[in-house]
Amino acid sequence: MTLRVGVIGAGIMGADHANTLRRSVRGADVTAVADVDLARAEAAAEGATAYDDAFALIADPAVDAVVIASHDPVHAVQVVAAVRAGKAVLCEKPLAPTLAEGRQVLREIGGPGEALLSLGFMRRFDPGYVQLRQAIDDGSIGAPVLVHNVSRGVSSAPNATSEFSITGSAIHECDVVPWLLRSPVVEVSWIAPRRSSQANEGLQDPQLIHLRTADGVLSTVETFLNARYGYVMRCEVVGENGTISLTEPARVVIEGELKRSTGYAADWRPRFADAYRLELQAWVDSVLAGAPTPLATGRDGVAASAVAEAVITSMHEGGRVTEVELP
Ligand SMILES: NC(=O)c1ccc[n+]([C@@H]2O[C@H](COP(=O)([O-])OP(=O)(O)OC[C@H]3O[C@@H](n4cnc5c(N)ncnc54)[C@H](O)[C@@H]3O)[C@@H](O)[C@H]2O)c1
Repeated sequence: MTLRVGVIGAGIMGADHANTLRRSVRGADVTAVADVDLARAEAAAEGATAYDDAFALIADPAVDAVVIASHDPVHAVQVVAAVRAGKAVLCEKPLAPTLAEGRQVLREIGGPGEALLSLGFMRRFDPGYVQLRQAIDDGSIGAPVLVHNVSRGVSSAPNATSEFSITGSAIHECDVVPWLLRSPVVEVSWIAPRRSSQANEGLQDPQLIHLRTADGVLSTVETFLNARYGYVMRCEVVGENGTISLTEPARVVIEGELKRSTGYAADWRPRFADAYRLELQAWVDSVLAGAPTPLATGRDGVAASAVAEAVITSMHEGGRVTEVELP
């Protein structure tokens, strides 16, 4: 059986997901692509149906399930329309830019609708993060006490804001930290050094966030969108008897001109290519089997938004320690 997938949003992520679904995922075919920019939809469709209207794609009887990779503010309305049409949805993070909108989505789709919704927190499928979680579960480093996360990119969009750094980037840590520790984030705080001269007006970059989970573990998150030198993702879990860290993915070493060097990825796609592929495969398999989603759920998306919103409150209130409103 083949799952006929429609992809909404044919930008960086949508085109990448369409490509992965076609070439690297068993049991899936991309039958339609929609983008407000029709030329982009056509390019990513590779001969499948191209739409300039997401709702026309959702209504297409040749589309069984929908991947949403459009801009953050339109995720909510597209998720609701796709679920109401009875189609399984994999929505890229975030479910919505604010907690209130995320909660509204869950209210509008209701309990049975939630079963159709999965969220694209792909780090849950990254082999490195999966091993970190397994090692914590196995007790190999003893009980965790600290988690240090570093998230650096080359450059941000020219209109990026300080809040976007949280809802668009640190939202991944807002999801993956409680997932790793199996404990919800209950309290956060925010602090920042002087603004990098590489950051645009309106963007505090870098930022430092503290997340305290219900188990008492404290996590740090550095988010630095304009670190310039490469896309770098680090996570170290410190336990009572040792530590476990993600290693840099294997890349070539270049030796010459009196130096030894390795390259960095320019963005997240090569770093998380395996995670995206494994996530899409797990989604397709579960939809075809009629099984519960093994991906992050709509509720996980709302939980991550609740953490992000508390971080933004702390940012706006001079770094005050802020409780997370439980979803
Ligand atoms: N999971 C991850 O690691 C990850 C990484 C990057 C981006 N994202 C998320 O993926 C989504 C897409 O990000 P991107 O980097 O590909 O952005 P992008 O700007 O490259 O692509 C977004 C596309 O959506 C289209 N679009 C916007 N509104 C639309 C609408 N109403 N209907 C149809 N198409 C519409 C745009 O024209 C554009 O082509 C965002 O929500 C982003 O937060 C996730």
